[in-house]
Amino acid sequence: ALAAEAKRIAAEFDYSTEEVGKGVKEFIREMDEGLEKQGATMSQIPSYVTAVPNGTEKGIYLAVDLGGTNFRVCSIVLHGNQTFSLTQSKVAVPHALMEAKKAHELFEFLAKQIEIFLKTHHNDKFEAHRRRPSQQQYLDLGFTFSFPVNQLGINKGKLIRWTKGFDIEEAIGQDVCALLQKEIDALNLPVIVAALVNDTVGTLMARSYTSPGKTGTLIGAIFGTGTNGAYVEKLNRVKKMAQIDAELGSAAYDKSTGLMIINTEWGSFDNNLSVLPDTPYDRALDAESVNPGIQMFEKRVSGMFLGEILRRAILALYKHQDENIALFKDTSSADNDTSSLTTVAEDSPLYKQWGIDTSFLSIVEEDASDRLRITKQTLEKDLGVSAPSMEDCVAVKTLVHAIGKRAARLAAVALGAVVLSTNKLQEDDLVDIGVDGSLVEYYPGFEDYIREAFREIPEIGVEGEKKIRIGLAKDGSGLGAALIALTASKAEERGE
Ligand code: BG6
Ligand code: GLC
Repeated sequence: ALAAEAKRIAAEFDYSTEEVGKGVKEFIREMDEGLEKQGATMSQIPSYVTAVPNGTEKGIYLAVDLGGTNFRVCSIVLHGNQTFSLTQSKVAVPHALMEAKKAHELFEFLAKQIEIFLKTHHNDKFEAHRRRPSQQQYLDLGFTFSFPVNQLGINKGKLIRWTKGFDIEEAIGQDVCALLQKEIDALNLPVIVAALVNDTVGTLMARSYTSPGKTGTLIGAIFGTGTNGAYVEKLNRVKKMAQIDAELGSAAYDKSTGLMIINTEWGSFDNNLSVLPDTPYDRALDAESVNPGIQMFEKRVSGMFLGEILRRAILALYKHQDENIALFKDTSSADNDTSSLTTVAEDSPLYKQWGIDTSFLSIVEEDASDRLRITKQTLEKDLGVSAPSMEDCVAVKTLVHAIGKRAARLAAVALGAVVLSTNKLQEDDLVDIGVDGSLVEYYPGFEDYIREAFREIPEIGVEGEKKIRIGLAKDGSGLGAALIALTASKAEERGE
């Protein structure tokens, strides 16, 4: 009976071929709308990056990266032959800073991490600058800041809104590069914030630098804590550019390539739910989030939210009024052991918003062990459920699978729509996509489900799907930010 009920809930997460097709059409429509006007649901933000690298770029650069699971500081040496070396340090951003009262608190923390990194890995530059400050010692830094930013130039951009649980009211509308530079200067560090980069744009650049073949990369996409994609667009399709240019007052970027990398901010695709699936679990998650009604696509696709959808589905099954159906109510002791009464600890993360991590889904989805031993242990360790029965484990796995598969099929809608709207399948033999993020990296079969859905999209089909290459650009946005900092400092030297 439990198994049947779990299957019934899982079926609410089915996302049919027909829905995938509808999703793609609407996605393309919203992409076009975002290219035409400012303030559309899908922001389609011009990145001011107008070319992708080809692997011959050289130099040493700093990069910092805020917006995923970790805050990272790295220095990157580009060797110019598609290879690079990277030194990096990672810290988790303290939760209190994500909801700090003052923006200064967060950015001061970031600058301090840069200081620690420089002292540890580039002490020569640090000390030399301390002794005799000089222009030569400055390092150009690429700032990967993975939130929606109204970009006003290569190193200038105002925060539109926070996502992924960050919520520092005071920062909205402020130039995040200036906020960081101010804290860097307060610590007297020899660092210039040369470029502002979304993680998707960084991922696209990194993949393009390292990917084999001459076609270049079309899309950089993140499926991690959040989800988003950037792609290479023809400049003349970015209709709103004329208005933006007029506001900026000058041609602040190189137009010669006829291209512009666009940060779609697809996390906000279909915020009014005209085509997105919507279960009671999705609705409850949204209603209790810090930003109801926004990032509706992201709330169905990315890691931060999948755990929460699952938590709500598990709770529904646990609280089922029929004791014979409910989850974690096994009194019959499946293991024939009287000590194996199933109980849920009072302080179980099951009762806490965001209590389930994406990694939980990856572990359960992957579990092929005898009697789902690993799922059992993970329920015990991570969720405070003691002695869950085999039936409980199977039911949880059924829910996990349904939620993960729906996310991957939605991811295919976004990727498929971008591939189709750029006409790349017609123009090239191969379409290259770089991806990063904990979900696509660790959730088993994520790419397979994406591919399955690609084949169901009539305009892509079996033949089209074969032409699409998806490659992991692990931690790529640091490299990408360095590449953009390089382009920016070259442009500055040329006096652009
Ligand atoms: C990292 C990138 O590898 O992946 C970040 O360097 C990106 O820029 C992150 O934000 C996304 O993954 P997650 O799972 O940390 O959100
Ligand atoms: C969120 C952010 C976006 C970022 C994505 C992936 O959607 O708004 O800027 O790219 O998460 O980290």
